[in-house]
Formats: sequence, structure tokens, C-alpha cells
Amino acid sequence: MPVTTVTSIAALRERLDAARASGQAVGFVPTMGYLHAGHASLVAAARADTDLVVVSIFVNPLQFGPAEDLDAYPRDLEGDTALAEAQGADLLFVPTTEEMYPEGAVRTTVTVAEVSEPLEGAARPTHFAGVATVVAKLFAIVGPCRAYFGEKDFQQVAVIRQMVSDLSLPVDVVACATQREPDGLALSSRNAYLTDAERAAAPVVHSALLVGRLAIDAGERDAARVRALMTELIEAEPLAELDYAAVVDARTLQVVDPLEGELRLLAAVRFGRARLIDNVGASVA
Ligand code: PAJ
Repeated sequence: MPVTTVTSIAALRERLDAARASGQAVGFVPTMGYLHAGHASLVAAARADTDLVVVSIFVNPLQFGPAEDLDAYPRDLEGDTALAEAQGADLLFVPTTEEMYPEGAVRTTVTVAEVSEPLEGAARPTHFAGVATVVAKLFAIVGPCRAYFGEKDFQQVAVIRQMVSDLSLPVDVVACATQREPDGLALSSRNAYLTDAERAAAPVVHSALLVGRLAIDAGERDAARVRALMTELIEAEPLAELDYAAVVDARTLQVVDPLEGELRLLAAVRFGRARLIDNVGASVA
């Protein structure tokens, strides 16, 4: 079945309300486009679990800081349509900025305390309010659904889960595993910014996270020592500029020392124009 592109909120609502009225379960995959195999895995999961799959493509200005890459963010609607169709999506929701924000600035924003504050929240102070606001709006447009997010953006999933719980939104959040290149680099639309030399260096992010996890698995319980191991590895790469490397509680994303329970190791590293993030899990019984 060819995928149907819908650009208006009203038309999307009409289609999804009719589907739910006839007993269909709606699966929703929010994206900013320039789709790759990571996004494809979310669409495939939605396809396997639900009856009507909608993928949204909207490069959300609210979640970009003033010095960030909003204007440069890569776009390829033709490629995205082909990928969504190949994964069995039914509807592609591609609103214009005017459709989403007809008055320009929004007066109502969603901020999620605590879980959005460290890590990406500290590095990008307005980012998660922008994400939470647009995802709340997309959930209001799409209505009751299962929504699929990638663990690649681990803190984003935590922020969305907190928002859904606090606001009793009628959405089941499903987190899907990070898809990677064979050398470990997490797939990301922003990998398109990497030069050949930066691309060759970029797998150090995942390697450093794995070294951190290995240390924990081998009995290291000192968070600072795990952090130092990851930091040293990344800083040894001349093309890498470390933003942060951290090991935190997987649920609260707060520092835990000594290390115990379910943990997440996360890093953000700049390579030239690209700021890449990645994470892996670890646990201490
Ligand atoms: P975007 O970066 O396009 O990502 C859309 C979804 O794809 C997110 O849930 C993200 O975690 C997931 N994803 C990206 N790379 C992945 C990978 N390598 N493996 C698995 N999943 C991956 O995240 C956003 O857009 C926006 O913040 C959005 C939620 C759409 C709000 O604007």
C-alpha cells in the first residue's frame, strides 16, 4: 500500500479518529525526517504492533537553540517517503511550520523538571522544553496511540515518559534499541555533517561507552573512575571534542556513587560541525 501524505492537522485527526472508531490501534513514530535505518526500526516496530502506522516529519524550531543547526538540518522528503512506505507506514504527517505554529511564537510550553535538567538539558538549556512541547502537541493531534522512540536519545525517552505520566496522556511509550553502523557508530541524521576523517574517528564514542560498561562489569563501583576512563579515551582522539561523558541512574538520570542498580552511560561529543550523542546500559546487581 502506498503511504498517504497528510499536511493538515484536521485531516490527520479525521483519519485517525475514524480508524480508532473502527477498532484499529494507532502506532505513531515522531521524527524530524532525513530518515535512516534507526527511524526505520521504529516504523517496523509500530507496523508489527499496531493496525495503522503514522510517521510525522517536522523539523521543530522550538527544540533548536539560537546557535544550533535548525537551518542546516538535513531534509529529504522524497527519500523519507520511500523509506516510510518500504517499512509499511500508512500515513506520513508533514505539517508546515505555519500549520503547527500559526501564531509564530507559542505561549504555552511544557517543561519537565528534574529528568530534563542534567546532561543534554545542561548542554542545551531550551532543548527539552522544545521537545516536550512539540511532542505534547503531536500527541494531542494524533490522539490515543502507541508512540515509538529510540533509546539513542535516552534522556528524551525519559522526558517523554515523565510528561505522559504527569499529564495522563493517552499514549503508551515504547522505547526501541539503538541501531548502529557495523563499527558501532549510532545512526543519526547528524552523521551527514561528518567529514571522512571525522566519520572514521566517530566510533570512539561507542567504544568509550563500552569500555565504561566493561569496567563496571569487572567490578568498578566508583563513578568518577568510570567517567575518567571514558573521558581519556575520547580525549585521545584529536578530532573529538568532549562535551560530557557520564554514568547515571537509568531512571532518574542523576549521578549515583557508588554505582548500583540500573545504570546508563552517556556521552556527547563534537566532531567538527556534528554534535553526536550515544549511550549504553549497565547494571550492578
Ligand atoms: P529524530 O532525531 O528525527 O528522531 C526520531 C526518532 O528516531 C527518535 O525517537 C530517535 O530516538 C529515533 N532514532 C534516531 N536515531 C536512532 C537510532 N540510531 N536507532 C534507533 N532510533 C533512533 O528525536 C527527534 O527526532 C525529535 O526530538 C522528536 C521526538 C521528533 C521531536 O521533535
